[in-house]
Order: sequence, then structure tokens, then C-alpha cells
Amino acid sequence: MTRRNLVLIGFMGTGKTTVGKLCARELDYTFCDSDAKIVRRVGKSIPEIFADEGEEAFRQYEREAIADLATQERLVVATGGGAVLDPVNAEVLRETGTVVLLTAAPFVVLRRVGDARTRPLIAFCADPKARVIALLRERRPLYERAAHFQVDTTYSSKGTVAAEIVERFLRGNEIGDESPF
Ligand code: S3P
Repeated sequence: MTRRNLVLIGFMGTGKTTVGKLCARELDYTFCDSDAKIVRRVGKSIPEIFADEGEEAFRQYEREAIADLATQERLVVATGGGAVLDPVNAEVLRETGTVVLLTAAPFVVLRRVGDARTRPLIAFCADPKARVIALLRERRPLYERAAHFQVDTTYSSKGTVAAEIVERFLRGNEIGDESPF
């Protein structure tokens, strides 16, 4: 089965956007970031949406963005870190694309996220590290359930990760089932 899109899921700071752009260039696909699509549509930053309208409103925008992206093809989609916690989003993405989970150890996530104020889920919390570890533990099974395969980015360069993903994506589409994953 040829899946139309390549979809990157996983926690904040696992490299979905940077790796996604590299994969898109390699595949000659269009890169699309679901958060950026929401920001364009709503006209506010993600922290502003959380502050003004609340997380539930953000999740509704996210569902709409995911449903729209899934109607397209030849896309590399970088999803927000919470997108596939909604089983409908996970299902829609799996049906229309190859879903790849990017993982990273908590210390790397914290280093890459940098200024936590841009990430409402860990902004202003007394202990961002404990929050990251708790969220990762809670989300891991849901991420794994949504993914066709996963790649750890803790010690790999973004180029190495992108090359592995593109290779497995193309091989999977060629062979025609999920067995190589
Ligand atoms: C979120 C991750 C963010 C963004 C929002 C919620 C999450 O995206 O969608 O702040 O629930 O993990 P990134 O994973 O791109 O940081």
C-alpha cells in the first residue's frame, strides 16, 4: 500500500520540524507543520491561543488542521506533540500516511525546548524536568500505538535521522505492507 504522506509525531523537542523539513526536501514533498497552520488560521501564537481560549479550543483547531492535512498528498507533516493523543487524529493520520514516532531522552528534550515559555504545557511550572518526565510517561503508549515505526533522536544528528526515515518510508511503500517496520 502506498501511503500518501509522511507524518512525524512525538513529544516537543524531538526534532519533528527540523527533521521533517529535511525529509520533505529529500522526498520532494511539501513540508507542513500543524501548529504553524493553526497559528496562520487563528492569527495568534500557540501560547496566546492557550492563554486566551484555553487548551480545549486549541485541541479543536488541531483536530481541524489534522483532518484537512489528511486530505492532501505528498506532504511531510510535523504534528504538535499532543496531536495523536486524540484517537481520531491518530486514526486519520495512520490511514493516510506513514506515521513515524520521534523520541528523545528527557534531558535532550529540555535542552532543545530551551525557553519553556513558548511551550504552554511546561511554561511557568516549578519543575519543568519533572513535568516533561511525567508527560512522556503518560503519553508514550499513545505515541507508540499511533506509530508505524519509531526513531530515537537522542544521540543522532538530524541528517542521520531524516535519512533513516526516508529510507524506511520508501522501502515500506515499495514492499507494500507494514512488515519492514
Ligand atoms: C503540545 C506541543 C506543541 C503545541 C502545543 C501543545 C503538546 O507542539 O502543539 O504547545 O501537547 O505536547 P510541539 O510538539 O511542536 O512543541
